Amino acid sequence: MYSDIFSKLYDAFGWNYYPESFAQLLLRWIDEQGLHINNMLDLGCGTGILCNMIAEHGIETMGMDLSHGMIAMAKQNYPHIVFQQGNMIDWKPKMNFDLVTSTCDAINHILEPEDVKKVIKNVYSYLNPGGIFLFDFLRPGEEADCEPVDMGELDGKRLQFQIYHPKDQFVTLQADLFEGDKLIHTEKIQEHLYEPEWILNVLKETGFQDVRCTDQLLESESGHAATWFIIAKK
Ligand SMILES: C[S@@+](CC[C@H](N)C(=O)[O-])C[C@H]1O[C@@H](n2cnc3c(N)ncnc32)[C@H](O)[C@@H]1O
Repeated sequence: MYSDIFSKLYDAFGWNYYPESFAQLLLRWIDEQGLHINNMLDLGCGTGILCNMIAEHGIETMGMDLSHGMIAMAKQNYPHIVFQQGNMIDWKPKMNFDLVTSTCDAINHILEPEDVKKVIKNVYSYLNPGGIFLFDFLRPGEEADCEPVDMGELDGKRLQFQIYHPKDQFVTLQADLFEGDKLIHTEKIQEHLYEPEWILNVLKETGFQDVRCTDQLLESESGHAATWFIIAKK
């Protein structure tokens, strides 16, 4: 679970780049596909950036996230948008949606395959007929151990980020916050890397149609060649 401390640092240390670039590409994609989207739900919405950018284009948005800290930041940043705390495995909104998104590996944070199946069934239950579930994910073999990356300094604090890849199917993301030389906070997040074929099968078994996996949605603009997307239609 992302802590309150990390949630406050998330945008300030640069993780805003992903939802910002994704929002632009999503809007272009919706346009290219000729889709009429009235409302959108973002699962694992983080600080709420994607919801806000899509709402600015006339689509009603709502966000949900497991982390109380992330939801607090989202509500503070965008008080006009509804954000709710919950677990996407069993959380249910009171309304149905034309589009459900989940970005920046939020699905990989679900560690048990059985729970990913529950998420997919759950989303199916509150999508409108013809509605779309669009999410990104990390697949095995695309994340390697990396050297610590310096994420910069803010108010005298420095953040260092590192990815560990202890097993084929799992990665651990670690963020260390320093004040001077003193380590004042460590955030460790584990992610499960899923095979696209497995996810596609679960979607089909659940009843989704036109299920496909692509790495093209974010190609060139943001340089996220390792980001894969799944698009599934109810
Ligand atoms: C890497 S962050 C991405 C945040 C945001 N989507 C973005 O693009 O910046 C992953 C988010 O997924 C959320 N998350 C993880 N497990 C979740 C769950 N079971 N239900 C809802 N949200 C979850 C985390 O709290 C975190 O905010």
